[in-house]
Amino acid sequence: MIEQDFICSDSFESSGIVEWNSPSNIALVKYWGKKQNQIPQNPSISFTLSKCYTNTVVEFKPKKNTQNEIYFTFDGKENQDFEKKVNTFIESIDKYFGFLKNHDLYINSKNNFPHSSGIASSASSMSALASCLVDIESQITNNDNNFNLKKKSFISRLGSGSASRSIEGPVTLWGKTDAFKESSDLYAVNISHEVDKIFLDYNNTILIIDPGQKVISSSLGHELMNKNPFSNKRFEIAKNNTERLKDILKSGELDDFITITESEALMIHSLMLSSDPYYILMKPNTLEAIYKVLEFRRETKLHLSFTLDAGSNVHLLYPKSETEIIKKFIDNELLMLCKSKSCIHDHLGNGATKIR
Ligand code: PMV
Repeated sequence: MIEQDFICSDSFESSGIVEWNSPSNIALVKYWGKKQNQIPQNPSISFTLSKCYTNTVVEFKPKKNTQNEIYFTFDGKENQDFEKKVNTFIESIDKYFGFLKNHDLYINSKNNFPHSSGIASSASSMSALASCLVDIESQITNNDNNFNLKKKSFISRLGSGSASRSIEGPVTLWGKTDAFKESSDLYAVNISHEVDKIFLDYNNTILIIDPGQKVISSSLGHELMNKNPFSNKRFEIAKNNTERLKDILKSGELDDFITITESEALMIHSLMLSSDPYYILMKPNTLEAIYKVLEFRRETKLHLSFTLDAGSNVHLLYPKSETEIIKKFIDNELLMLCKSKSCIHDHLGNGATKIR
């Protein structure tokens, strides 16, 4: 499919309300660096989460004035920063939704994970909003579910690249690669049918090392990749890692899975360290937690591994069958490294879901 397939000028005039939950996701092969129009420099693969999600309600009514209006609240309260972001985003996608021109939108969003946990909320919030918009549009189009899923992912991507991977689950891929013939730079695809069952109920415990604001936003991080001296090599490695991970996910080979995901996490942070200007998102306790995970794995031979997104929190990955011992280790050894001893025990899920 090409970009033009997602343009829609059909409209209607009516009122209604839709509500969707959409989860966050954690990348195994990371998206770090992009071209124009949110086209990724390399394919990425992620696990869709389940418990960390955004709930978004969109009410639409025929517009009151000549210009359509968008009203946004976060958790029932006005939030001018978010409102501005949502307005700019919706303006930027209006050619894809004919109905936007003649309707006012009343949007309320809330996250079920702590707002200041340092967990990326752009993936869940953009995919929840995209799900609502495509759902409204589907009331007048005859598009099938397969098309709607692609459009939801396409629109999510324009809001935040990684959000494209939250529409479906448990395992998705975004970005063109010869390894998956249905892959695209424009939207993510569900690759769960090519994944061994050991991964489908994998656990992801997020250690909240530091809930504070990041010193560098991920948009700036992507931009700095344009002049990072190692970027071309990085994009090549990420492409290879995608191909290797495909086989690993299929075989259920946990040791190789661990090697590749941990290497990906450390590599994107090494690119932050080698950017100009350089910046460090890991905190001392991020490294302390990583050391402890490596030591625990050496001693127990269990399959606990870590990954990181663009922040200091540590995402622990482990198979469901090893939950009991690993949770004890988290409680006894890792929680002390977390802000207010907090962590979120999440696991893989199936993506965005309609509430009404
Ligand atoms: O979607 P963005 O622009 O917030 O970028 C996300 C980047 C990482 O979380 C670091 C990696 C990824 O693939 O999710």
